[in-house]
Amino acid sequence: MIVLGIETSCDETGIALFDTEKGLLSHTLYSQIEMHNEYGGVVPELASRDHINRVLPLIKQNLAIAQVDLKAINAIAFTQGPGLAGALLVGASIANALAFALRIPILEIHHLEGHLLSPLLTNPTIKFPFIALLVSGGHTQLIRVDNIARYELLGETVDDAAGEAFDKTAKLLGLGYPGGKSLSLLAEKGKSGQFTFPRPMRNSGDFNFSFSGLKTSVQTLIKHTEITDQIKADIALAFQEAVTDILVGKSLAALKHCGLSDLVVAGGVGANVSLRRTLAIEAAKLGARVHFPELALCTDNGAMIAFAGAMRINSQGENCLKNHHANYPYTVKARWNLETAS
Ligand code: KG4
Ligand code: ZN
Repeated sequence: MIVLGIETSCDETGIALFDTEKGLLSHTLYSQIEMHNEYGGVVPELASRDHINRVLPLIKQNLAIAQVDLKAINAIAFTQGPGLAGALLVGASIANALAFALRIPILEIHHLEGHLLSPLLTNPTIKFPFIALLVSGGHTQLIRVDNIARYELLGETVDDAAGEAFDKTAKLLGLGYPGGKSLSLLAEKGKSGQFTFPRPMRNSGDFNFSFSGLKTSVQTLIKHTEITDQIKADIALAFQEAVTDILVGKSLAALKHCGLSDLVVAGGVGANVSLRRTLAIEAAKLGARVHFPELALCTDNGAMIAFAGAMRINSQGENCLKNHHANYPYTVKARWNLETAS
């Protein structure tokens, strides 16, 4: 079966075609980052309007790349939530209109399910159960994954998400939006040991996180320090070390707690080289394995949505194919607990 994936939950329009037999046929992405950069963050109304312009051309582009006829698509998977309501509505409307026209079923996908399954896209040897560390701009969660649609939330951030902390700290250092990648590039020029930031909740004994205090520590330091380019790089490095230390500590604790030996890392912050390196080293000491999506699939994309749809078809069969028959009613969920995604 060929599944068309549509992702429009935030500031990236992601479209993909995934074949349940042959794998990923095509995926393309349009990032709105430059447009939002001017405002220092995502402007929801601009995001929705831009998705409207991008979705159909990207679908056409995917059909051309994969050399697939529109009528060959068997199902459409779209991100139903969580995310920006207006942006989600664009993807949901186009997905349902197209499914109605083609008389094919719809799959309503949870954005985080897409992220946490994405490492399996290129590495089918990963087996359930595993622990997933979801680290994006909006979420920081540790989840026990027993199977498709069997997700248990072990812990999450009580305030800022890890990506949000990267972005806010990057802003304090005068870097653009989103700042995670630029901050990590700056950190490469930093000297270790110049600054040390606190590790909030590192030893709280649960699987929750807190990052807003860390950002405040950076803010306080900047206020009281004469800032040079080198000091900026040293701060970026110390900040990245603190975040890495917290994420690694909690992830390994979750593995031990559940008696599991596979950790899957997903979401934009999963592109962070320091996190990838440290997690791999520390997990190996425990005899555990860490799996990351390809760098291109770490941030939002359509491939993970098409793939999550295909995984549902493979594991749940026709049961998961909601054919809305006459009129394809649809809704989006700006907020949506992953444990209830079935
Ligand atoms: O998963 P994602 O693309 O979108 C959300 O669903 O949020 O994640 C975006 C987040 C942003 O906060 C961005 O700054 C962060 O991922 N990010 C990084 C890196 N690349 C992206 N953070 C740290 N290091 C990176 N290399
Ligand atoms: Zn995301």
